[in-house]
This record gives sequence, C-alpha cells and structure tokens, in this order.
Amino acid sequence: MTRTALVTGASRGIGQAVVRRLLADGVRVCGLYRTEGEAAGLLAKELGSASPRGLALPCDVTSAEQVRDAVARCGEEFGGIDVLVNNAGVAPFAMLENLGLQEWEATFATNVTGPYLVTKAALPHLRAGGSVVTITSGLGITGAPGKTHYAASKAALIGFTKALSRELGRRGIRVNAVAPGIVETEMSAPNAELRKRYEAQCALGRIGQPPELAEVVAFLADHRSSYVNGQTLMVDGGM
Ligand SMILES: NC(=O)c1ccc[n+]([C@@H]2O[C@H](COP(=O)([O-])OP(=O)(O)OC[C@H]3O[C@@H](n4cnc5c(N)ncnc54)[C@H](OP(=O)(O)O)[C@@H]3O)[C@@H](O)[C@H]2O)c1
Repeated sequence: MTRTALVTGASRGIGQAVVRRLLADGVRVCGLYRTEGEAAGLLAKELGSASPRGLALPCDVTSAEQVRDAVARCGEEFGGIDVLVNNAGVAPFAMLENLGLQEWEATFATNVTGPYLVTKAALPHLRAGGSVVTITSGLGITGAPGKTHYAASKAALIGFTKALSRELGRRGIRVNAVAPGIVETEMSAPNAELRKRYEAQCALGRIGQPPELAEVVAFLADHRSSYVNGQTLMVDGGM
C-alpha cells in the first residue's frame, strides 16, 4: 500500500531533501510550506507531477487554524497519514543579555508549539505502523553561545519525542527525533563563525549535506527501523 507522509517546512533546506528522499522511496508526500514564492512553486510542481501524486499546502506551523486545515486536508484527501516529519524551524542568534521576550516566544512558537500543533492535528489520521520524526538539533544537547532560546526549544523536542513515544507505542506508531550537527542550508549559511568552529571540532572535518539527513529520516520513517522508538539520533559527523 502507498504510504503517505506529511512534511513541514518542505520547500527548502532539510525539508526539501526529505521530500525528495521520500518521493524516491515511492511515498506520497504532502508538503507544507510557509512562504509563497519560487521555492513553494517548485515544491508544488514536484509533488503534483510525482507518482503517486502529492500535494503542497501553505501552512505556518504557529497558526492553529492553518495547521488544523492543512493537516485535515492531507489526512482526508489521502485517507490517512503514515509518516509525519516535523521539520520546520527557526534558529535565531542572540546572547541572553540581548534576547527579548518576543524573540524567545517566537522561537518557541515555531520550534515547539509548531510540532505540538501539527502532531496533535495529525493524531486522528496517523495509521498503525506509522512514524513521527522530529528534527531537533545537536545544540539542544550541547548548547552554544547566542543560542539559549534555540537550544532550549530543541531540548524540549527531545522530551516531547520521548513522552510521545510512550503514548503512541501501543498504537503501533513510533516516535523518534533526528539531531543534526551543522547542515549546509540557508539556516547555517549566515553563521560563518559557527560553521568554522564546527568543522574544526567535527570528526569528519566538514558540515553535513541535506540528503545525508534525509537518508536518516527515511530510515526512521519506514519498517527498516521497526524497533527504534523514543530515540534522538545524532547525525553530526561525529562530535
Ligand atoms: N541547518 C542546520 O545546520 C541545522 C542544524 C540542526 C537542526 N536543524 C533543524 O533542521 C530543520 C530544518 O532546518 P534547515 O536547515 O532546513 O533550515 P532552513 O533552510 O532555514 O529551512 C527552514 C524551513 O522551516 C520553515 N519554517 C520556518 N518557520 C516556519 C513556520 N512558522 N511555519 C512553517 N514553516 C516554517 C521555512 O519556511 P520558509 O521558507 O517559509 O521560511 C523553511 O522551509 C529545523 O528544524 C532546524 O532547526 C538545522
């Protein structure tokens, strides 16, 4: 039977690579994007011409209404959801002394409330044998200067993953997280200093590429990882 995946933040970066990797596995993909534009147009084109045909839908994960509508549309149109990938996220930089409440809350709204809203909306549609994969971050474990809000939000996702795995296990649904190190996307590009420091510390001496993350997500998404549950898998080239 064709499996259906719902991916947030699907139009670029790691989300785009996950979409392409799942399509290569023959998964039907419903890709959610926030910003209209060239990247969203390309996503719609790729999903619309895929076999089986998928769907691109606008959805800001901080909006309960948009999440409710987009997830319901995906679940109803495709008769259920087998794979949920909580990928959308933001990674702002600010030292704590300069970090305002608004920026703190905005980071949590996208990185923590977003996955809560999307996962909760997906629950009634998730089929037995399904898999929830959430993209957290190595920084949620190690931290870094200027990243208190980001690291705290990503650490929250590790607890979310563990707890939800205990709620959904008896329904035959697995819940795992992937914690990337630094990956070549727009998110990591502006922070040249962090990249350089990372390359020096990483055992492989380089940052990761989006397809290398997507490969692990695809593994956690299907039967090959059938006894992996409640885990946060570091994908960081060895730190
Ligand atoms: N790149 C890294 O080094 C790295 C390391 C560790 C963890 N991660 C995590 O990996 C995930 C993907 O990051 P990336 O590197 O691919 O970043 P990216 O290239 O900046 O892409 C981020 C994606 O999230 C979407 N997004 C942001 N806020 C959203 C919102 N409120 N609602 C819906 N979508 C939203 C963006 O949509 P728009 O196009 O509309 O902005 C975009 O598609 C994130 O959770 C990030 O924290 C990345």
